Amino acid sequence: MCGIVGCVSAENCYEKIFTALTRLEYRGYDSAGIAVLNADGVSVRKKKGYVSNLKGKPFAGDTGIGHTRWATHGKPSDANAHPHVCGKFALVHNGIVENYAALRAALVSEGETFFSETDSEVIVKLISRAYTGDFFSAVVQACGQLKGSYAIAVLCADYPREIVCARQGSPLIAGASRDALYVCSDVPALCGAAEYICPACDGEFFRIGEGEICFLDKAGRQIEKTFVRVAPENRAASVSAGTFMEKEIAEIPRALADTLESLQKTDFAPCARALRQAERIFAAACGTALNAAQAFKDAAESEARCPVFCFAASEFRYRDPLIGEKDLFVAVSQSGETADTLEAARLAKARGAYVLAVTNIAQSSLAALADFAIVMRAGPEIAVAATKSYNCQLLCLYYLTAQIKFYRVQEFPDWFCRLGELPAAAESAFGCFPQISVLAAKLKNERAMFYLGRGADVRTAAEGALKLREIAYIFAEGYAAGELKHGTLALVEDGFPVLAVSTSEKLAAKTENALAEAKARGAFTVILSQNERAISESCADFGCLLPALPEKLMPLVSVIPLQYFACRMCLLRGFDPDKPRNLAKSVTVE
Ligand code: F6R
Repeated sequence: MCGIVGCVSAENCYEKIFTALTRLEYRGYDSAGIAVLNADGVSVRKKKGYVSNLKGKPFAGDTGIGHTRWATHGKPSDANAHPHVCGKFALVHNGIVENYAALRAALVSEGETFFSETDSEVIVKLISRAYTGDFFSAVVQACGQLKGSYAIAVLCADYPREIVCARQGSPLIAGASRDALYVCSDVPALCGAAEYICPACDGEFFRIGEGEICFLDKAGRQIEKTFVRVAPENRAASVSAGTFMEKEIAEIPRALADTLESLQKTDFAPCARALRQAERIFAAACGTALNAAQAFKDAAESEARCPVFCFAASEFRYRDPLIGEKDLFVAVSQSGETADTLEAARLAKARGAYVLAVTNIAQSSLAALADFAIVMRAGPEIAVAATKSYNCQLLCLYYLTAQIKFYRVQEFPDWFCRLGELPAAAESAFGCFPQISVLAAKLKNERAMFYLGRGADVRTAAEGALKLREIAYIFAEGYAAGELKHGTLALVEDGFPVLAVSTSEKLAAKTENALAEAKARGAFTVILSQNERAISESCADFGCLLPALPEKLMPLVSVIPLQYFACRMCLLRGFDPDKPRNLAKSVTVE
């Protein structure tokens, strides 16, 4: 997704902005650009493709802005890349201006010429037209005409050491170090640069000027804000060999151990009332986090006997949901910046529900909006495809399930005292990797796959299939094993790969039946189970033995071989798992 950086520095700023942009590369983008203020006015370099295309003689100047663009309005091209310039102004923008077509038509009828197809260019035109000598007022006036979401950082040639920034519905953060002041859309951009940060809230503006950052409302009144030290989970991540995705899978045991330690220190008393009394629980999330939320539904309904309604956040927000002040809303988001999840949480809050967030980023918009935040300790997740954050989301949500049960019936689930076994079990799951590599080599040229499961295994199957789709570009569907015979079996023919996750003793025979039905139609069958009998006696052509754990905890580790399988398939097919096409790390637009 799009990324913003900006800097007012004691020295030349180009390199600082360039480095910060490289730190945003993991988020997915298709073009990049930098604008710097200097004696010539505004110097701009912007290019389709990688940030490295911006290398070259750095522009002189200590104040500048930069951007990585993920195309929404207009194809990836040099012209559509940000910054956009109009007269004395240069602007970078994240978000979507929903009324841009009407604004653009009006500006064209007034004689303006556009040089890009973007919605963003209208903003810089509006600022330029509103300008009568007061930079800040011009930005406020322009923002007043926008509908939709935006985070912007703007330069004005008349204000040589100033950046004016505004936020509405898209994250924007101020940062400070001894020798420079910053703006960024994502804290990792400032890793190793800023020591202190302060996120802006919706409707707020800030001016970065000579030695100070000043937060203001639209009337220009100062807003008191507190800067906090950059949290350890946002410190720089690097990979010396292999890919970030491989590294992050290898980090799962440590991430689980850290998250468990942090959960054990978390005081749940502030949300005790909601956990005890909520009449209904709602959970909403997107993508991988949605699969974790679905697993939470299963666990919480079975343990706490409380109805849990789980939604894709993008659906929840447009459903006029039946949620109210007696309900608990659980929002799950690794980044804490996913637009759909944030909007769903805002809606739940507006309806009076208690909002509890599960996120990896303590300073995220979601954590700020929530009444209570559980912050997992997965550490920075740089690969676009989520891996260790999924395992940690599950851990947080299972821990939350245990708290809900405790506050309701003064009893913990019987697996609660076994959570400490998870890091070692995750490590043991790595023992499957040599076999998984063999499986990937066999299946790398397949065009489609089914992943089956029953009960909790359906969620694991869905997550395994999502990983394969998003990084190996193979169509895969996670499916309830019992549903196969209701139509989908028609797609199974000779050699079609069907993989079953089977971790429930009670449901094993049923899952194996589904696999047998597929096998009878010629499928190449694979089974993942912690039960040796299932591996040797089922009809599977290929088996993978999972580590033994209490059954209810299996989803936290049974997904690991599937994460690794997707990564191997991706690499064997010649793709980069860290930068999948058309997928961004945090999806900050609708
Ligand atoms: C999948 C993936 C996405 C995210 C989804 C939600 O590997 O990374 O599906 O899970 O965009 O992101 P967060 O959790 O940041 O809200």
